[in-house]
Amino acid sequence: MSQNEATQPGADLENLLHETRTFPPSPEFAAQANATVEMYDVAATDREAFWAQQARELITWSKDFTEVLDFSGAPVARWFADGTLNAAYNAVDRHVEAGLGDRVAIHFEGEPGDTRTLTYAELKDQVSRAANALTELGVATGDRVAIYLPMIPEAVIAMLACARIGAPHSVVFGGFSAEALHSRIIDADARVVITADGGYRRGKPSALKPAVDEALAKGTDVRHVLVVERTGQEVAWTEGRDVRWGEALEAASPEHAPVDVEAEHPLFILYTSGTTGKPKGILHTTGGYLTQTAFTFRHVFDHKPETDVYWCTADIGWVTGHSYVTYGPLLNGTTQVLYEGTPDTPDKDRWWDIVEKYKVTILYTAPTAIRACMKWGEEYPNKHDLSSLRVLGSVGEPINPEAWIWYRNTIGGGKTPIVDTWWQTETGAIMISPLPGVTAAKPGSAQVPLPGISADVLNEAGKPVPNGGGGYLVLTEPWPSMLRGIWGDPQRFQETYWSRFENMYFAGDGAKKDEDGDVWLLGRVDDVMNVSGHRLSTTEIESALVSHPSVAEAAVVGAKDDTTGQAVVAFVILRAEAVSRADEEGEGGDVVAELRNHVAKEIGPIAKPRSILVVAELPKTRSGKIMRRLLRDIAEGREAGDVTTLADSSVMEQISKGMKAG
Ligand code: WT7
Repeated sequence: MSQNEATQPGADLENLLHETRTFPPSPEFAAQANATVEMYDVAATDREAFWAQQARELITWSKDFTEVLDFSGAPVARWFADGTLNAAYNAVDRHVEAGLGDRVAIHFEGEPGDTRTLTYAELKDQVSRAANALTELGVATGDRVAIYLPMIPEAVIAMLACARIGAPHSVVFGGFSAEALHSRIIDADARVVITADGGYRRGKPSALKPAVDEALAKGTDVRHVLVVERTGQEVAWTEGRDVRWGEALEAASPEHAPVDVEAEHPLFILYTSGTTGKPKGILHTTGGYLTQTAFTFRHVFDHKPETDVYWCTADIGWVTGHSYVTYGPLLNGTTQVLYEGTPDTPDKDRWWDIVEKYKVTILYTAPTAIRACMKWGEEYPNKHDLSSLRVLGSVGEPINPEAWIWYRNTIGGGKTPIVDTWWQTETGAIMISPLPGVTAAKPGSAQVPLPGISADVLNEAGKPVPNGGGGYLVLTEPWPSMLRGIWGDPQRFQETYWSRFENMYFAGDGAKKDEDGDVWLLGRVDDVMNVSGHRLSTTEIESALVSHPSVAEAAVVGAKDDTTGQAVVAFVILRAEAVSRADEEGEGGDVVAELRNHVAKEIGPIAKPRSILVVAELPKTRSGKIMRRLLRDIAEGREAGDVTTLADSSVMEQISKGMKAG
């Protein structure tokens, strides 16, 4: 754990466990479901045989594997290691070869209302051309490619083109700043960046290319920038380095032989925030990752390729976009909707308009979005026919029972199963979730580890808690889509996940087991915040604040927020010069606005603190650790709790006084 005290799980979420409603699957749904209750037993009897069977049934191998799991190099697992395959072939080509070339892979809906349809045959053509274009630009198997794109079909095409040549992609969320993009390009040592002129957001074109130019100006080893033309806005151009996506693809052949890679060949790196200032490059490899994303997509969403229309609202910049926009759905030959923009453009019924228009049957989104829709009111969904929906999914943070019930009633017509899926960037695929058609759902609980997955809740001493008890969520056996490490930092991998409990993966979440043994997730127990389902590090935002010349010291906490789950609240001590300036301007004024923008510039707008409080001191223990628990009390409007371990117990009084005055 970091230098700050850990939060005790459970305390303020105690009330969750008073939720006792259950929603068993309807007999009709159960009768047609892909998943069966027997799967749990089969998997428990021989976990490795179970995963080997999934790997052979759901994935096409160019060379079959003979060994399932090798954990002799723990904590790094090797799955299906002597098998070979290609991810893009599995996601695209084999469906075309099976005669499904005319099936729609992607219904694209641009924010301004423009649309595009891509069949599997067209997707194969585009991915092949892009793979040839990347090769032409000197990208070889094993080279890293950074992707910085809006939610347009090219995002999926670019990822698959990389996979096709065995070049690991590193997708950087388009909302991240030039600074954040630069550090990720450097860490992964990317050779090419794929970006766009811009994308549409909130009714306007929003530029992306300038951030790439700015990132590269800081010095990188990037040789080329491939630029998709989306908005047509003017962009600066570096001759020789920058290449137009459209021209490059047109010049390229639509024929491309997918490169066979070993099962453990890196498929992608995806950066996520940890407890320190430096984001971690989570590494995923090919065979195990594809197996588990394909398996979970099929069973957790009860996907039927001939009839379902699937829509996941996540951006490809997050792991949900990797596993449940690009890989899981396409491996299963789904027809999916891809939407570029925000849920309230042009109006607050945009999502429901899309569901009606494409007759979406499976919707996968985040609690923060559901709560926002709740706040806007049911008049918006009620304007539309949502009767096509038959499975609803939730991911990113615990879903409060009230939002769960609203989701089921208002969006799901009071009948759809809801799958509350717990997983992480590190786990690669869904780990804990009800199975629709099998599990009697409990609003607010992710409930049961999937077949083939072993999880437990441990106490401080590392012993499993009894039913009714709370503690720390761990994964007790290796799983196929587990991270294979942190890019370039094996020691950090060991320390972050494998040092808290012996031989077990510690996820960083608190959890409880109810009387039936079902798991209720209670949020992070480390210095990681969850804002709108996005993971943010307190330390990373503190570093950003302290990098501003006006700031002497900063402490950041995640405060409860009705819509976003948590919100970033910062406490800063200003440097003397800045204090006198703030005094002249009155109550922090411009300094606070400046600091908020500074954080947006350093990390991205999602990291902008909701509020920044200028304080004279921070509450610290005698050994100098910041007591965030007390700051969280203040940020959530409570009296500060126990202050007896503070070096100076008057500090909290001063801070609360400052709050009341301000
Ligand atoms: C953290 C992982 C998984 C993709 C999106 C976020 C929280 C995620 C749930 C859920 C309770 C959840 C956990 C986890 N989380 N899903 N269904 N119930 N908490 O991926 O950015 O890697 O964040 O999100 O705290 O550790 P991520």
